[in-house]
Amino acid sequence: MRVVVTGASSGIGAEIARQYAATGARVALFARRRQKLEDIAAECLALGAAETSVLEGDTTDFDRVRSATATIVDTWGGVDRAFLNAGGYGVSDSAEMQRARELEWTTTGFSAAAAEAVMRVNYIGVTYWLETLLPIMREQRAGTIAVTGAQTADRGFPAHGPYAATKAALRALCDSLRPDALRYGITLALLEPGCVESELTEKNCCDSMPFLQPTAKAVTQFIAGVEHKRAVVRWPAHASLSSKLAASIPRAIFDRWAMRKLPRV
Ligand SMILES: NC(=O)c1ccc[n+]([C@@H]2O[C@H](COP(=O)([O-])OP(=O)(O)OC[C@H]3O[C@@H](n4cnc5c(N)ncnc54)[C@H](OP(=O)(O)O)[C@@H]3O)[C@@H](O)[C@H]2O)c1
Repeated sequence: MRVVVTGASSGIGAEIARQYAATGARVALFARRRQKLEDIAAECLALGAAETSVLEGDTTDFDRVRSATATIVDTWGGVDRAFLNAGGYGVSDSAEMQRARELEWTTTGFSAAAAEAVMRVNYIGVTYWLETLLPIMREQRAGTIAVTGAQTADRGFPAHGPYAATKAALRALCDSLRPDALRYGITLALLEPGCVESELTEKNCCDSMPFLQPTAKAVTQFIAGVEHKRAVVRWPAHASLSSKLAASIPRAIFDRWAMRKLPRV
């Protein structure tokens, strides 16, 4: 099995790499932080990976996505599983930066540039990988692409609109591509985590992170869903249900609750 994982330097992506490594797969790891990738690659080899490939790069750099894909295909001859998982909230390393980002995502300081930045990583980056991977899998007449969305796509929560929009865009894209990809033997899966332990949730912790789940447990569920060719894998179930219920609350009631959650101005 030849597996590519973007966003493999931490959190969900690193754990996807580890769990495929433990099955003896060849695992290619893509992200920006080279040292972290090297460390995860070493872990993967220790776990039983047949081979690893460290591909440092930014998912918003189309040329780099093309060259990384070419490297994998040149060395391994194709791709069986691709996890398009790189993403997140964008810059949020400190409380001040988080607060600045929140303001840029609300009426107070709404910033098109901030919305574009998160869209470029979470959505446009995925389209770059799709353009490079779909022809390869079309030729193979086989392969699975799993895209990491988020349950927050159900309803844009206060001060999270631009992030939720990227995940809603991925959902629409996957729904639209899935049936025609199937004609070529390609399976598309959308993974929608609730709250899973990772650098993302660590930085954005914690009162707004209900039902926070261990990474390994979550990834086991996602991989099982992907291997069973499920179109959408949402986990954990209780978070998924609450998210769907929250999405069904009448707007007038939801908006009153949301106003209390917004950052102070
Ligand atoms: N954890 C949750 O509760 C949760 C819930 C819903 C959805 N998700 C989604 O799950 C995915 C993985 O996130 P995570 O929770 O595992 O957080 P994480 O630990 O912060 O991992 C994010 C990964 O994406 C990579 N990445 C970010 N920007 C990138 C870029 N421009 N180019 C290449 N790689 C980039 C990061 O690596 P580098 O910094 O080294 O580039 C890192 O490997 C994301 O798409 C996130 O939106 C997570």
